[in-house]
Amino acid sequence: MGEKIVIFDTTLRDGEQSPGAAMNVAEKVRIAQQLEKLGVDVIEAGFPISSQGDFEAVKTIAGVLTHSEVAALARANPQDIERAWEAIKEAKFPRLHTFISTSDIHLKHQLKKSQEEVIRIAAQSVAQAKQYTPNVEFSAMDATRSEIPFLAAVVEAAVQAGATTINIPDTVGYAIPSEFGELIRTLRQTVKGIEKVTLSVHCHDDLGLAVANSLSAIQNGVRQVECTINGIGERAGNTSLEEVVMAIRTRKDLFGLSTQVVPKHIFATSRLISKITGMVVQPNKAIVGSNAFAHESGIHQDGVLKEKQTYEIMTPESVGIPKSSLVLGKLSGRHAFKERLKELGFRLPEKDFEMAFTRFKELADKKREIYDEDIESIVAEEILRISDRFKLVYLNVVAGNMTVPTATVKMEVDGEVIQEAGFGDGPVDAIFKTIKKITRTRSKLLHFAINAITGGTEAQGEVTVRLEEKGRTAIGQGADTDVIVASAKAYINALNKLEYRKKELRGL
Ligand code: KIV
Ligand code: ZN
Repeated sequence: MGEKIVIFDTTLRDGEQSPGAAMNVAEKVRIAQQLEKLGVDVIEAGFPISSQGDFEAVKTIAGVLTHSEVAALARANPQDIERAWEAIKEAKFPRLHTFISTSDIHLKHQLKKSQEEVIRIAAQSVAQAKQYTPNVEFSAMDATRSEIPFLAAVVEAAVQAGATTINIPDTVGYAIPSEFGELIRTLRQTVKGIEKVTLSVHCHDDLGLAVANSLSAIQNGVRQVECTINGIGERAGNTSLEEVVMAIRTRKDLFGLSTQVVPKHIFATSRLISKITGMVVQPNKAIVGSNAFAHESGIHQDGVLKEKQTYEIMTPESVGIPKSSLVLGKLSGRHAFKERLKELGFRLPEKDFEMAFTRFKELADKKREIYDEDIESIVAEEILRISDRFKLVYLNVVAGNMTVPTATVKMEVDGEVIQEAGFGDGPVDAIFKTIKKITRTRSKLLHFAINAITGGTEAQGEVTVRLEEKGRTAIGQGADTDVIVASAKAYINALNKLEYRKKELRGL
């Protein structure tokens, strides 16, 4: 097996900081359950003081998980730490994660504190957290742009105060692998007591080096990696969980290490995150992109047909990519649908199952072949979005080259049914304007894209929209065999996400 690398997933915290990737509580719980199934050791469920919504999500997740540790983030101050503990105290395996910046730039311009004060605050915060739980992680934010002797002094103070994990973040994605490895070596050589704690890294991908930096840190003695599914996160994102895990596994000859992640659940997890956040995975993304195992050139195809290893360093099956995703049709019954849901990682309560099954039957009437992707869309739209403020009830559009596009839309707004009609430059414009009228919202459309979920002319169209309102963005997705309906669903999904954000900010 080799020594173990602890996988700390922060999809629900740093991942949610991706512009537009806001998630509601039900979505977060669903993701946490999938991460636990994936075998993640620590799940950072959120930043409880940041909003009431985040607090509720962390608390709910803490009450649900049975194997993974549940971490809550807190700045290094008494109120944050208390709030974080309040959210995770019922967890089977709680972890408090507190942080403070250590770079001169942050101390001078953001914290406005001296180095001595930062050392004292770091020690006090860890000591406070230790009163609640023995499992305390300390992070030195912007570590890679910090003066190394000062960074070492802060880390030493946190270790002395009882931190059990010390995390060295490359907060702005500035480090280069050889230099980052050297920094880890230096800390291991100079900080008293560091051998007693688990050393961790948390890398951002601003220079596209997050995975490389994490691997370099591992080669220099780090034993925990913080990462996110699909590498989502603040700005350019974080270390991608699937890439780091598969690198350790595929190059076991080099690292001699292992993780507890079950690779066959990687693909389903990646898809779930993409569906819920609306953040599409680029086709050439390593491990989970749609081209990651596609061989195009004749020479490569010839080689793979003769022996897979000629051009494949791992198999698509090993990360859970199904051989063929054609699954069900019009005649498939409850049992087959339930089994397929289970294989895709969804165990739905009876009421939710019935709702999904009804929608599946409706879809099967319109579309002969139902693929995994179709089923995932059903679950994302019918089950995970139940607490939505705005719901589409009815839609009729008249469009063509000789008529002014007109939309009639009926919606539920907080349970009240409202109908309106409106014109636009095209059918989608007419729908969006009418929805805006009904919902009395003022968001700006930043991006609109249509994709076919699967192949064939009867495939469902999946629409992704990105909206902006008062500096906040939200990504929405909607799928339907009719792209006009899919557009309306995507728009409403994004509006609901903006509403959720507003509600969180109002502390409701
Ligand atoms: O990037 C960062 O430094 C962080 C810390 C809070 C760990 O996200
Ligand atoms: Zn971060």
